[in-house]
Amino acid sequence: MISRNSKLDLAAGYLRTAEHVVVFTGAGVSAESGIDTFRDDGGLWQEFPPEQFAHWQGILQTARRNPRRLASFVVHVLKPVAEAKPNAAHLAIAEAEKQTDITVVTQNVDGLHQEAGSTVVREIHGSLLEIVTLRRQFVRLLSRKRLARIVRWLNWAARSWLAVPLIPFALNPLAGLSWRGVVRPSAVLFGEGMMEPDWSDALADSCDCDVMLVIGTSGVVFPAAMLPFEARDNGVHIITIDPEDSGMGELWLQGTACEIVPELMKRAFGASDEAE
Ligand code: OAD
Repeated sequence: MISRNSKLDLAAGYLRTAEHVVVFTGAGVSAESGIDTFRDDGGLWQEFPPEQFAHWQGILQTARRNPRRLASFVVHVLKPVAEAKPNAAHLAIAEAEKQTDITVVTQNVDGLHQEAGSTVVREIHGSLLEIVTLRRQFVRLLSRKRLARIVRWLNWAARSWLAVPLIPFALNPLAGLSWRGVVRPSAVLFGEGMMEPDWSDALADSCDCDVMLVIGTSGVVFPAAMLPFEARDNGVHIITIDPEDSGMGELWLQGTACEIVPELMKRAFGASDEAE
């Protein structure tokens, strides 16, 4: 069996000689920034089933039947994102841009890759920090501070005996009626199309890179999960970084994003200690 050390060296060699690297990330890359994943033990979908909270029909039904529960879901999603900072993995990925051509393709909606300094980021599932119209026209960006304020208002509204009228009011900066019509975060719900042009660009990047680093994704949500398969069909080296083996990669580096990514980048490019 090939040792951890040799696997890291092999992966570092692929990265060093690559002309274009795609870093494909899922919830696991942000877990060490304090944002829970979806499907691990205690993950978001365990407490809030996606049929009720991640489909339009379910959301509207929950809003009508139990607005306090919807408020609790939104608080669960927003609070960790409002408080999150990029971790050592996000920072090491951004730092590696100085050494090679890197495109980040992320399923995450937390904006942490950009905050770490990555400059080419395809947000294929949109963003919680970007407010758009129903036709996905850009309206405004929300800061993390603003998200934290929405969380405080929502918590207060949900406790009030006037919760039914107050919850939509507290939610309004995030989702509701504005002078542009109905607005919402660009985060993609189940049953909706992928974010464009990010998705088409991500597909093209996946076929046009030498190495794909797949970090912290279970690979069960399509069409996002088809990217590593597209890449593999085009002869791309696929390296997965995850405590669990998703079976997507030719090389699996077992461990958390913060354990593996800075070490891997250091071996590949001699990344500075700043990113650790
Ligand atoms: P999942 O919750 O399905 O998978 C998280 C992955 O991260 C698993 O493979 C874990 O083993 C791994 N993981 C956990 N902690 C980690 C750590 N510290 N470092 C590295 N890896 C770690 O999340 P995603 O695959 O991102 O879509 O889920 C994909 C999509 O499903 C999401 O974008 C979201 C969700 O429903 C929509 O809502 C449309």
